[in-house]
Amino acid sequence: VSQAIVILYATRNGYTRHIAERLVCSVKARGFESEIIDTAHLPPRFSLQRYAGAMLAAPVHAGSHEREMVDFVKLHKTELEKMPAAFLSVSLSEAGMEDKSAPLERRARASEDVERMIHKFLAETGWHPPAIKAVAGALLYTKYGFLVRFVMKRIAKAAGGSTDTSKDHEYTDWTALDHFADDFLKKEAALASC
Ligand SMILES: Cc1cc2nc3c(=O)[nH]c(=O)nc-3n(C[C@H](O)[C@H](O)[C@H](O)COP(=O)(O)O)c2cc1C
Repeated sequence: VSQAIVILYATRNGYTRHIAERLVCSVKARGFESEIIDTAHLPPRFSLQRYAGAMLAAPVHAGSHEREMVDFVKLHKTELEKMPAAFLSVSLSEAGMEDKSAPLERRARASEDVERMIHKFLAETGWHPPAIKAVAGALLYTKYGFLVRFVMKRIAKAAGGSTDTSKDHEYTDWTALDHFADDFLKKEAALASC
């Protein structure tokens, strides 16, 4: 059996690729081999059977996870359910939820949004990953076109995010992400040694 863990990600503005790269670091630190793949560019005849485990990361846009990830999971659900696998949901709602300076009500609303979006993904794909983590994403003002920048600034204003459009703003708690990845991989390592 292969000892490689595959990190699959989807992205629209590139940020989830950074999250996927960080997962690769955790995988390597635990002594596993790793492969990182963008679900928008899957190699021909891709199969999950070659891997000992999988970590999937996808961002939310307009209330839904990236279409490529939804399609990927639907197509590979049977294989996914036979292997240790984790799902990471990247969003600004999670950033709102983690914002300790925000009013409790706003954080509770953000938390409900996160739950709803993850629930929608699970319902749509029919997949029930044993490990799920919501991850705070980023406001990438410098990478948006005029219209998206305008809309995102308004959303950020209402949600308590930064409205300084002269730069990008990352909200990811990298330490929490490392802990989640390591917990998942620890179980994986224990299984692999049996
Ligand atoms: C047009 C647009 C729509 C978005 N819609 C949502 C949303 O409905 N809920 C949310 O929590 N975050 C939303 N976000 C925030 C993204 O999830 C966040 O920016 C994430 O880091 C994007 O990852 P990516 O760069 O990998 O695409 C949106 C971002 C953009 C640019």
